[in-house]
Amino acid sequence: MNAPPPSTLRPHESFRSLLAHLEATGELKRARRAVDPKHELITVTLKNQKTLKKGSLFPDVTGSPAPVATNVLSNRDRLATALGFAPTDMIRQLEILEAQPVAPVEVSEAPVQEIVLTDGVDIARDIPQIIHCEGDAGPYITAGVCIARHPRDGTYNASWNRVQIVGGDHARIRMMAPQHLGQYQEMAEAEDAPLPVAMVIGAPPALMLSAASKIPLETDELAVAGAWQRSPLRVTPAVTVPLMVPADAEFVIEGFVVPHAREVEGPYGEFTDTYVEPAKNHVLRVTAITRRKDAVFHTMLAGAAEDTTLLGVPLQVEVLKRVRSFADIVDIGTPGHLFGCVVSINKKSDEQARAVLMAALAAHNWMKVCVVVDHDIDPHDAEEVLWAIHTRCRPDTGLYHIPRLGSFPRADVRPVHKGKMAFDATVPMDLREVFARREFPGIEDIDLDAWFD
Ligand SMILES: Cc1cc2nc3c(=O)[nH]c(=O)nc-3n(C[C@H](O)[C@H](O)[C@H](O)COP(=O)(O)O)c2cc1C
Repeated sequence: MNAPPPSTLRPHESFRSLLAHLEATGELKRARRAVDPKHELITVTLKNQKTLKKGSLFPDVTGSPAPVATNVLSNRDRLATALGFAPTDMIRQLEILEAQPVAPVEVSEAPVQEIVLTDGVDIARDIPQIIHCEGDAGPYITAGVCIARHPRDGTYNASWNRVQIVGGDHARIRMMAPQHLGQYQEMAEAEDAPLPVAMVIGAPPALMLSAASKIPLETDELAVAGAWQRSPLRVTPAVTVPLMVPADAEFVIEGFVVPHAREVEGPYGEFTDTYVEPAKNHVLRVTAITRRKDAVFHTMLAGAAEDTTLLGVPLQVEVLKRVRSFADIVDIGTPGHLFGCVVSINKKSDEQARAVLMAALAAHNWMKVCVVVDHDIDPHDAEEVLWAIHTRCRPDTGLYHIPRLGSFPRADVRPVHKGKMAFDATVPMDLREVFARREFPGIEDIDLDAWFD
């Protein structure tokens, strides 16, 4: 995968700019009826995703102070559109630009502070109360990007963290080390200090992606977002906490993580499609909610296409960084789930395929099942990948089982995430002629509209 030239496509620097574009291009469906935020909003969205595969915008959410959008970035092409990249070179562009951070710029007029709620703020009244799964403990903020600063050197981190709404100024936030927010909290708590945070809802798309990415602790994630959108992130001082927040977001919930306080959070329907048992998590005290006058709230079902797109693309970037020295990489996908990847290569020797597999398995601890395929297989298409496994993999030599290595670490499901496996689904070099694919001359030029009604 060679370095592509800088993209000339225009990124969307705000969530609403992206929403407007998706609606104009038929990619976002606007509901014509009121929706119940308890279960109905997400069941309608899931059905939409399974059949129409569109984003959902609910202008009328019963009892809610704002409309709600969901399933917005639910495929790779939409994320590429949001960032202004061609889908085929998105991960390479992200890798290149991550090394060229662009510092944020402070602005005084911040749309996200058109309305400022401080006294008597009630998180159970002032934002939509959305309940996704039947067994969830109650309403959650599931699409909030948490902004925080390193307590010692001030570096900005962005991460996605679910927040269980309790009421008034009281909420619970899921975080833990070694994730960076968890490390920040440990440092603050060691000094008996609260950790100021800002939960950003409807963040600029580049910030949504940097929040989902494994960016080194010492790198400022607001500056990486600036690099990815090829212009500085517009920020403004928060009203009640010492943080800069994205000026063009839809909502910001300001507050602090209380030191030495833990409360039971959950159950919650997680991205593994199972419930996480109730467990002690951190306490968030809300000090302000700021928003646009016509703010659109964003919610995301854990494990739905939007979530797996936002987590999958950064995984693809991590794998690319590890495998690129071993072969000519065509593309990398994460079809199925996030516990594996598919690397498509222009193979020059059989050994290259094996080296790519070992490097891919080591790229991230979630990597449990990796597959290497030839250049003619689309690594984003699970059916093509299975076809390659069926027709090209030689199980007696092309299947690797690596015992005694863990992958996804969450305690409840960990028993099945022990050991790793890999499939070489490339055609062996000495059989290339036998496996040459059939050709159908002129197929690219056939216009079906000219043939059928
Ligand atoms: C929608 C969404 C929700 C997430 N929720 C959480 C969460 O509640 N707690 C958590 O620790 N990580 C969560 N993650 C994963 C982290 O955001 C991700 O691992 C991120 O890279 C961590 O940031 P860091 O690299 O700065 O530590 C979520 C990711 C997404 C996309």
